[in-house]
Amino acid sequence: MSQYIYSEEDVQKVREASDIVDVISEYINLKRTGANYKALCPFHNEKTPSFIVSPSKQIFNCFGCGEGGDVIGFVMKHLNLNFIEAVELLSERAGIYLEKNTGDYEKTRNKRSKLYELNKDAAKYFYSNLMQNKLALKYLLNRGIDINTVRGFGLGYSKNEWQSLFNYLNNKGYKESDMEEVGLIIKKKSGNGYYDRFRNRIMYPIIDVKGKVIGFGGRVLDDSQPKYLNSPDSAVFSKGNNLYGLNKAKQYTRANSIVLVEGYMDVISLFNHGVKGCAASLGTSFTPEQAKLLKRYSNEYYICYDSDSAGLKAADKVLDILKKMSMKAKVIVLPEDKDPDDFIRENGLEGFHSKMNTGLDYMDFKIYLYKQKYNLSSTEGSINFTKEVSNLLKGIKSSIEVDAYIKKISQETNISEAAIKQEILFNDSGKFNHKTNSKDKYIYGKYRHNNIDRIIPVKHNLQSGHLKAEKSLLKLIILNKDIYILVKDRFKAVNFLDESHKRIASVVYQAYEEGKMVNDDILNHFEGKELEIINSILSVDIPLEGQEKIKAVEDYIKKIEIHKLKIKKSNIKNKIRLLEENNQNNKEENSELRNLRLELSSIDRQLKSHH
Ligand code: CTP
Ligand code: MN
Repeated sequence: MSQYIYSEEDVQKVREASDIVDVISEYINLKRTGANYKALCPFHNEKTPSFIVSPSKQIFNCFGCGEGGDVIGFVMKHLNLNFIEAVELLSERAGIYLEKNTGDYEKTRNKRSKLYELNKDAAKYFYSNLMQNKLALKYLLNRGIDINTVRGFGLGYSKNEWQSLFNYLNNKGYKESDMEEVGLIIKKKSGNGYYDRFRNRIMYPIIDVKGKVIGFGGRVLDDSQPKYLNSPDSAVFSKGNNLYGLNKAKQYTRANSIVLVEGYMDVISLFNHGVKGCAASLGTSFTPEQAKLLKRYSNEYYICYDSDSAGLKAADKVLDILKKMSMKAKVIVLPEDKDPDDFIRENGLEGFHSKMNTGLDYMDFKIYLYKQKYNLSSTEGSINFTKEVSNLLKGIKSSIEVDAYIKKISQETNISEAAIKQEILFNDSGKFNHKTNSKDKYIYGKYRHNNIDRIIPVKHNLQSGHLKAEKSLLKLIILNKDIYILVKDRFKAVNFLDESHKRIASVVYQAYEEGKMVNDDILNHFEGKELEIINSILSVDIPLEGQEKIKAVEDYIKKIEIHKLKIKKSNIKNKIRLLEENNQNNKEENSELRNLRLELSSIDRQLKSHH
């Protein structure tokens, strides 16, 4: 087996995508206690829990036995894997592709730390410029920002010159290619020489949760355009994966809330006025990755975007993303034409707090939006409004909540409560609505019989790798009776995961059993889609001889088995999630859950033994 290693960058990606609380709860039962979670330690015997998991620090620690570490460490220890295996398991779980490197990963790592250093030096340079430029400093102070806040956020100023930063960094010995890579300088059109990207702008260093300067935003001091320039994405900066201000917010939030805003100035101004936990999505649309990142630092969120229609629409999208990830959020709707910065400067901390107190939760905000969309004073408007809201109410689990909203809507629209109830219970075709949101589908459908051993191939799981293995295996069987004899007892027709392959295999197996020759005539048995598939199987090119074929057969079977295990694993994980959701108020760890977790570990071990 060849020796390989993963880059620190890739490992970090895996780490960031693998929330420690999510991962550990797939194996043991965690209970929330304040900002942390605790459990009975899986690594030693104990009766009272001393195993603590910290979502904000992304580490676990046992005060009983002293075990501790990050998410990778947990997986290594719990499943008895080495580092590489643990990273592979987590990458698979997160759906992250890992590049196998042979040695030059050190280079990438050094390169990244060079880029961080470079950005940090640039930030220091901008900061010292600001302290020496009265006009720039006055701009910030005029906007109500204290000098302490300026310092705390490391704000700066880029001189009104073409090469001041370039020269400064050059003198410090940085490479032009590195400066260009992080976007601080731009190559001249003529091809020779560079110029500074940011000139005559207030500079906002963008700092990640580990305190590294990953990029910059730069704002003009007047009304000229473009108002903001931002660093491009680079080896150290990815906009969709970071939030401006979170590095500060995380120091203050603990179990408190985080306010999500749109702009740099909103974060800074709110902070300046005493709202310490704020973060901005860097002028691009909010991503699920950003939600995941936020989830580590708080349990409660406020979305406070601009109050124009674009802002409301964006807030609505954020709300949907947070809701999908079970993150509790409220929307703060500001008066017309005000952004959070304007608002808090006019109304102070108290004013902002009272806005937070009257924040709209999921349904209330949706109703607010639909009210703007439909004219409730017209019959048609009322009908459409009620239909849309009823449709959303179908997804709400709590009947108490649903009932409260039905009353509310009825009052607003003068449509009777009974009619709205009907609308919610019966879908458009008049059929009874079973409240099948996607999770419930499992309860009413696939999991109804509690039969998790049945392999349920999920469409998107049928990736080409394992399909190819099935095709190749089928072809070898079709062309070689000796291979059929070799595998028939271990690998039956039903063991093929793909339904068509299953049918084709059963025809082939039966033909062999009846002593018939299996050759291209097999085509006559099939039509339509299956004919297409068998054609594609017969056209698979397998240039193998003798022993090689046997080895290939083993590889194909292994690949299919691994895939089967993965499907089984994902089914079990779904089941665990469901049970946990239904069990949230149940203090006792139920035995079904425990068995499922054991089974999960056993599958992980089997998967491991296949490597
Ligand atoms: N933005 C950007 N490029 C622009 C305009 C905006 O990247 N040309 C991003 C910035 O991150 C900005 C955010 O979108 O902070 C919100 O834009 P806006 O509301 O216009 O800016 P404010 O943050 O309110 O800035 P200011 O109050 O200084 O005008
Ligand atoms: Mn603003």
